[in-house]
Amino acid sequence: MKELELTPRLMAIADQVPQGAKLADVGTDHAYLPVYLLLRDRICSAVASDVNEGPLQRGRETARTYEVDESKIAFRICDGLAGVESHEADTVAICGMGGELIARILGAAPWTHEALLLLQPMSSQPELRQWLIANGYTIQRELVVKEGEKYYVILTVTSGISQPYTPAELFVGRQQAGEVNPHRGAYLADQLRRRERALQGMKQGNPAPEVLAQEEALLAGLKDMEKEWNAWQR
Ligand SMILES: C[S@@+](CC[C@H](N)C(=O)[O-])C[C@H]1O[C@@H](n2cnc3c(N)ncnc32)[C@H](O)[C@@H]1O
Repeated sequence: MKELELTPRLMAIADQVPQGAKLADVGTDHAYLPVYLLLRDRICSAVASDVNEGPLQRGRETARTYEVDESKIAFRICDGLAGVESHEADTVAICGMGGELIARILGAAPWTHEALLLLQPMSSQPELRQWLIANGYTIQRELVVKEGEKYYVILTVTSGISQPYTPAELFVGRQQAGEVNPHRGAYLADQLRRRERALQGMKQGNPAPEVLAQEEALLAGLKDMEKEWNAWQR
């Protein structure tokens, strides 16, 4: 049988799951993440949940194909974590979904304050970061991963208090001197280009002065962060 291989995005998430974890993979779809980790004895159990039956069927099929011990993986059809109990997971992965949906799922499961969270939002990153820090979570790490031409950000989150974020930090995540994050420089440059284009587009539409000022301040903040990051890399 062919070995199950993960794409760089899922591999980077798998790498952050602690040895021996009890994993809940929310929105599991094909269940590659829990199956990969179970096959390598990296986790002791998994709950793979999805709100849709089709993806869950794909997940069951993956587990059958790779002959995962059925006693170690439970498939649940439910919205977010509604069908998962706190004692079943010490690590929760919510990946490949919008940031606002991730926030809603966490908000409905306050027990996630006791867990390690691995979050990979596809959109609404500022809204997710804002929600996390306003709701007693703290972002321990932000890892940028490149897959094809796209950048993805993986947030490692625990319970805790954070200093307020600047608008630019809400946008691209907080950075620390000495952190190991090989794609961050290119990611910052990419985000800067996007905001510059957005600003040019905005100017053509005759925006309200306060909206324009906000966008210009965001851009200036991003430029400062890029300069700081590049100085740290020298
Ligand atoms: C793009 S796939 C991501 C699959 C996998 N987590 C990954 O990162 O590769 C998103 C999955 O989330 C599921 N989903 C969407 N909303 C959900 C919700 N409220 N609760 C649980 N699963 C949800 C979808 O059915 C789909 O299978």
